[in-house]
Amino acid sequence: MAIVKIQPLDNAPYLVNGEIELLDGEGKKIVTTTETHLCRCGLSTNQPFCTGAHDGKFENKVRVK
Ligand code: FES
Repeated sequence: MAIVKIQPLDNAPYLVNGEIELLDGEGKKIVTTTETHLCRCGLSTNQPFCTGAHDGKFENKVRVK
């Protein structure tokens, strides 16, 4: 099984790399893909995907401590 990488980009969405099956809240498949950007700011109008709405409105940088 390949490793799926999920990276919270600085002030931006989660970058997901690796083969995934993305499901909705009821467990129904939205898409199968190998790369996607998932919203983590809550401002996207096309959840769970990033639409760029975060630009200039969301600040968060995740760092290992
Ligand atoms: S992270 Fe891009 S719209 Fe939310």
